[in-house]
Amino acid sequence: MEQKRWRAAVVTLSDKGYAGEREDKSGPLICDMLRQAGYEVVETMILPDEIGEIKECLCKLCDEIRVDIVFTTGGTGLSPRDCAPEATLAVAARNVPGIAEAMRLASLQITPRAMLSRGVSVIRNETLIINLPGSPKAARENLEAVLPSLDHGLAILKGRAGECGHESDETK
Ligand code: MTE
Repeated sequence: MEQKRWRAAVVTLSDKGYAGEREDKSGPLICDMLRQAGYEVVETMILPDEIGEIKECLCKLCDEIRVDIVFTTGGTGLSPRDCAPEATLAVAARNVPGIAEAMRLASLQITPRAMLSRGVSVIRNETLIINLPGSPKAARENLEAVLPSLDHGLAILKGRAGECGHESDETK
């Protein structure tokens, strides 16, 4: 079977990171985890918590650069500036709630504050978009919870895997 390296983009959402007032540790950490899992990271960027800019960036990544998967990090909390979920839902065609649910379920075993992430997971065209929280610890823990299942989800999204449990499906 052909080995596909999924093309990923990692977008850090942080006013302080964008202004150069805080080093972005989460973006590079997510990139490392993705590369170790066999992904090709083709785009990385830091944006301020501005819904218009985030929406524009997500549309470009999905519609023009056509990456397979976009991870955002930061901006999922309750601060008035946090708008990652709103920007993501605004460009979404279909919701994939289980990915965000799985991240919160796993994270609640680690900290009750996991309930404070409003992150969502959606599809636009043939791209998955997943919101991760902003701290390096939270980003790593959330990504670890879902990374093993994403390959199968992407294969289905791209029409490269059969339906789960059916004849052409090799995984369970
Ligand atoms: N999830 C995990 N696994 N570990 C964490 O430490 N921190 C929480 C939550 N999710 C956390 C987590 C906290 S304290 C907040 S405020 C929210 O993520 C939102 O983070 P964000 O505003 O940086 O996106």
